[in-house]
Amino acid sequence: TEFSTNSLTTEPGFSTTSPADFCQIFELMGKITKLPEWVANRIAAGEVVENPGSVVKELVENSVDAGAAYIEIILAGGGKDLIQVIDDGEGMSPEDALMALQRHATSKISDVDDLNRITTLGFRGEALPSIASVSVMELVTRRAEDEMGFRILVDNGEIVEQGEVGARKGTTVTVRELFARVPARRRFLKSDRAELNRCVIWITRLALANPEISFRAEHNEREILYAPAVGSFLERIEQLFGAEIAENLLPIQYQTGDYTIYGFVGNRTLHRAKGTEQYFFLNRRAIKSSLLSGAVKRAYSGLIPPGRHPVVFVFIEADPALVDVNVHPAKIEVRFRREEAVFHAVYRAIADAVGSVPSPAAMPKNVAKFVPPVDAVAQTLDFPEVPRRAPGRKIPPQDPVAKEVESVAERIISQKFAPSREVQEQPKFFQIFNTYIITATDSEVLIMDQHAAHERILYEKVLDALASEEYSGQRLLFPVEVSVPPHWVSSLADFLDRFAAAGFEIEIVGQNRIKLISVPPFVRNVDYARLITDILRDLAEGEETPEITKNFAASVACHSAIKAGQPLSQEEMESLFDALFACDDPLHCPHGRPTVIKFSIAQIERMFGRT
Ligand SMILES: Nc1ncnc2c1ncn2[C@@H]1O[C@H](COP(=O)(O)OP(=O)(O)O)[C@@H](O)[C@H]1O
Ligand SMILES: [Mg+2]
Repeated sequence: TEFSTNSLTTEPGFSTTSPADFCQIFELMGKITKLPEWVANRIAAGEVVENPGSVVKELVENSVDAGAAYIEIILAGGGKDLIQVIDDGEGMSPEDALMALQRHATSKISDVDDLNRITTLGFRGEALPSIASVSVMELVTRRAEDEMGFRILVDNGEIVEQGEVGARKGTTVTVRELFARVPARRRFLKSDRAELNRCVIWITRLALANPEISFRAEHNEREILYAPAVGSFLERIEQLFGAEIAENLLPIQYQTGDYTIYGFVGNRTLHRAKGTEQYFFLNRRAIKSSLLSGAVKRAYSGLIPPGRHPVVFVFIEADPALVDVNVHPAKIEVRFRREEAVFHAVYRAIADAVGSVPSPAAMPKNVAKFVPPVDAVAQTLDFPEVPRRAPGRKIPPQDPVAKEVESVAERIISQKFAPSREVQEQPKFFQIFNTYIITATDSEVLIMDQHAAHERILYEKVLDALASEEYSGQRLLFPVEVSVPPHWVSSLADFLDRFAAAGFEIEIVGQNRIKLISVPPFVRNVDYARLITDILRDLAEGEETPEITKNFAASVACHSAIKAGQPLSQEEMESLFDALFACDDPLHCPHGRPTVIKFSIAQIERMFGRT
């Protein structure tokens, strides 16, 4: 049972993937218990088992399907060395267990009525044989009514041992040496940290969808997640993500003929730099859908700063017949048959809760209490408010340009009537739009982007600190505790040393909680909780590259640097220029964008047609 994709493209009429294909496949599935070989090959083409995360997903889903009340996941080496899923579900008879390891044998399709369910669960009868064909897999299972358990050992698709064993009720599947015999696959696996990340994200999704089940997970013998059974989704969210997130969530609820929407969405203060904390579930299975993300975006538009993404947990219940499941079982993208209806339902559900700006008539009375006080909003807005001047309007006196005009006028007047030395003390730096700083040398005009410049300065500082390891943070008077998603915490372990070297002393205080104890001296007057959350997100969700130290430094610099929109004093502007031009590469921010643009006197003269 090696993976093969050969037969599928030669099968007439099935060379492309369209909903019509699925219909035919489902029809076939309803009539016969074994799928035809070409379908088998197509499905088996490696899509089920992509990485340790997808193994975890499939095994835990089986445990959920088996009615488990408790599911434990034991991982080692990012799942590459070991994945073990232990459940206390209904178990299997020896015959069923042997059957389960055969491709396309599934207990879950027995009659045509089950077809609709199939559409929600994806192609079934695939996971166990697929995993078993690319690993060394041990399955131990016992039903409540059997005296003895049954054990099967499969080595890369071949059953090498089987027989009765003593076992507790339920099923334990142990997967080792994943892809050891499929080097092409093994090579595509990422670092332990990245693979663990994917595993934990899947465990998180499954735990979110099944609050009535207890979950526990460990990695390299360290507990990384523990969520005992609870009675509501909100309690499960709080277990996994912490109280601060739960407190900032608003319930949503909406019902149309075909779709029921419920769940929890962030209020206007709960938003992130990336959209990765948006969880969607269809009939309690995690899904992805650009349609749903679009509906969320629309519902929050104008309510949170541009470029930020709300945190949402959206559950949809729908007749499975109204949904197309993607042909790749491991990919969780779905397509809804009635797209506008779903879009509208999700949009309405969220907009009603969060209070959308465009239609005040649609706002429920209780919105007011969810609208945070004005200064709380202002604090979260880090995007530059570029002031716009109406043409012809008088320039306000606090405007730097106006100041300059004034000072020139003053100088002329004072020179005329009371020539003195004082008037020479005019500002050397002008801040415009609270974002750019203008200054001039003998031969050039310089315009500096204050954020980009500060980013460059801090970036080199952090890199130096990491290289010299002679740097210490300043202890915070009040250490800051923040709640973050479990998979961020699991990836943080690898970075604690680097954080410490850069001046951030961090302690992991729980599966979803960290404590910030010290910060580098250059970090001042910022929201520490937000700073550390932003940096952690970059690390946990960033691309895996050998440049990891640089990425770390860039992330620290980016989130610690002064923002566009922040007014600066003369001294601050001056020291920015000084520090910038002491850098190795003063003209570029860590992302390669310019920090300063220059106009030479020659260019200016040309523009004025003087040459
Ligand atoms: N943890 C488990 N507990 C009980 N039965 C299981 C478990 N895992 C798998 N099975 C049985 O093995 C069959 C095959 O599993 P799988 O290959 O994942 O296909 P599917 O879940 O699509 O049916 C399942 O239909 C189920 O009957
Ligand atoms: Mg399964």
